[in-house]
Amino acid sequence: MTDRGAELFREALKFLPGGVSRNTLLRSPHPYYVASASGCRTVDVNGVERIDFANNMAAHIHGHAHPAIVEAVTAQLSRGTGFTMATEAEVVFARHLCGRSPGFDKVRFVNSGTEAVMAGLKASRAFTNRPKIAKIEGTYHGAYDYAEVSQSPSPSHWGHADRPASVALADGTPAAVVQDVVVLPLNNPETATAILDQHRGEIACVLVDPMPHRAGLIPVQESFVRALRDWTHDDGALLMFDEVITFRTEWGGMQERFSVQPDLTAMGKMIGGGFPVGAIAGRDEVMAVFAPGGEGPRLPHSGTFSANPITMTAGNVAMTLFDHAAVARLNQLGERARSNLEEAIKISGAPASVTGAGSMFRIHMKAETPRDYRTSFPTPEEKRALTTFLDHMGDAGFLLTYSGAGILSTPMTETEIDGLAEAAVTGLRKSMNQAP
Ligand SMILES: Cc1ncc(COP(=O)(O)O)c(C=O)c1O
Repeated sequence: MTDRGAELFREALKFLPGGVSRNTLLRSPHPYYVASASGCRTVDVNGVERIDFANNMAAHIHGHAHPAIVEAVTAQLSRGTGFTMATEAEVVFARHLCGRSPGFDKVRFVNSGTEAVMAGLKASRAFTNRPKIAKIEGTYHGAYDYAEVSQSPSPSHWGHADRPASVALADGTPAAVVQDVVVLPLNNPETATAILDQHRGEIACVLVDPMPHRAGLIPVQESFVRALRDWTHDDGALLMFDEVITFRTEWGGMQERFSVQPDLTAMGKMIGGGFPVGAIAGRDEVMAVFAPGGEGPRLPHSGTFSANPITMTAGNVAMTLFDHAAVARLNQLGERARSNLEEAIKISGAPASVTGAGSMFRIHMKAETPRDYRTSFPTPEEKRALTTFLDHMGDAGFLLTYSGAGILSTPMTETEIDGLAEAAVTGLRKSMNQAP
């Protein structure tokens, strides 16, 4: 049988650097190429079916081609896809989102999570008239220069645990960018506030993902966000949550789980109902920087495709369907997935562990459950073990993310969750025997 994926990848290498448009899709010998998808199932170009536990890196909450989203978007397509005019769809969706959290007085739409974080950081600078941002070591917030600092530092560069270094991600990053980013260790309130104290009066915003995927998919602790909220309040800096992934964890975002409220929240992925999206929401006084005219600091801001009616329509349907009952049901399935996987690890005897919360999990090839970015950083051997595991899962019909994370969608039932754990037992056993 010809491998259509291999043929496509050979062709792709001629026109796309590295053969892809997103590095995270690369795998050996070539990416999976999808032919079609429906609900929680995908079919690749070779006709292989897989249950989708990657959901476009957490962008799909209802899986693929949900009939209500398809119907609403199809109707909007024939009425037009983008205008030099505002739309009712953006007003309707803005009202819906603002109703989901007491911290969301106003919202501005953009086209990606990267843009949402960028808009939030720039809004913080405009509001405070300060240059620096602080972020947590090892966290991914998209491709804005400042947000990229210390996204994936290696042990040779990351510095002392009590004073993590600010490490540029891309070659050629201006030194000034790196100098204006302060890096904090996850879930260590004492060290984090001691570091912040050295930058009093300079920090515009402390940026926190409540469960950073790349830093291990480890939930932030109440004491940590409480310390950051107190410090920012006292210093006059803003606190921003990046809920691009974690908004799915509760009806009003993962921030519902904490006693503190951020000034700004970046959203993206699932709120677009499968289409490109980003949004920054927050309290009136801060969001006012986006409004032209009037008094006070200003942040001129536009975007050709921002709040386009396709995304607004799809997003509104998706989020309306993701009601309290749907959130609770998906979180229960998430609980089942994590405990089944822990059981699978026990049965297999593999040195592995599971992190996550809500409707997400991540498998680490480490016997001890990681606590932060540094303890989740894989050794070369652990990386090989994960690749062996993921290859097995792909062959067994289960698509996970490159990092070993799994993201649930509402079309899933106990059957898919239990099937995943069953396949994981063999995958974990194989992962212990991979050649160096
Ligand atoms: C927490 C977080 N923030 C921001 C982003 C960037 O979003 P996008 O890929 O839509 O630019 C991502 C993407 O994975 C993310 O996980």
